[in-house]
Amino acid sequence: MTAKQHNVKGIILAGGTGSRLFPLTKVTNKHLLPVGNKPMIFHPVEKLIEIGIKNILIVTGVEHMGDVVQLLGSGKDFGCQFTYKVQDEAGGIAQALSLAEHFVGGERSIVILGDNVFADSLQTSFDAFLKQEKGARLLLKEVPDPQRFGVPTLDGKQITKVTEKPSDPDSNYAVTGIYMYDGQVFDFVNQCSPSERGEMEITDVNNFYIEKGQCEYDMFKDWWTDAGTFESLRHANALLAMS
Ligand code: DAU
Repeated sequence: MTAKQHNVKGIILAGGTGSRLFPLTKVTNKHLLPVGNKPMIFHPVEKLIEIGIKNILIVTGVEHMGDVVQLLGSGKDFGCQFTYKVQDEAGGIAQALSLAEHFVGGERSIVILGDNVFADSLQTSFDAFLKQEKGARLLLKEVPDPQRFGVPTLDGKQITKVTEKPSDPDSNYAVTGIYMYDGQVFDFVNQCSPSERGEMEITDVNNFYIEKGQCEYDMFKDWWTDAGTFESLRHANALLAMS
């Protein structure tokens, strides 16, 4: 089935403080910084459009919403339709996602963190997700520094749990910031409470799916990175320059 038949919605989370990129983010939003020859946020937008997602919600903080809207507009230039939601405070990824409940309206959704940049098309995973009766689908990537990420514990083709930023990781994989969810996601989001770092964690949401035995995954084959630190931003630019 196609995205249209399923009415799958796209969500790009572009809130947060960007504190790890200060002072680059003193007067602008992290997702407006250049990565390759375009603003960071263009990358997830293009990945969604490539798989036929035309209805996209952008969540960002109040400080830079004006600039984000000025950059992206209605979606006319991209052949899609943007909707915007303000996240008042950087309360975490799951909290940013909670703002999408009404927009998603009980359908399936695909969520991309606005600082994730990658080479692979999402098509194969997305097709597999559409064939899933229910649940979630995650994308993993082997990384040299799993301590920086949500890390899956793997048992063959099963994820048995995800641990957020573990000091002693169970695997060398990162749960990347591309998440495909069915309509249950907001039940799980609404059950989350703030973590030790005071944020509503997307890892908790993923663990709800795992506990129900409803979480599948794929591996990215080509490169993937976030771009939220000086080092990863440089790395993203280098990877794009080579591709
Ligand atoms: O990039 C993948 C990683 O992203 C995952 O492996 C982790 O499990 C996940 O927690 C996340 O980790 P980070 O520490 O890198 O997340 P960060 O706070 O940098 O936020 C990533 C994006 O999420 C950011 O570019 C915008 C969005 N965000 C974040 C927060 C905290 C929001 O929209 N609102 C927020 O309040």
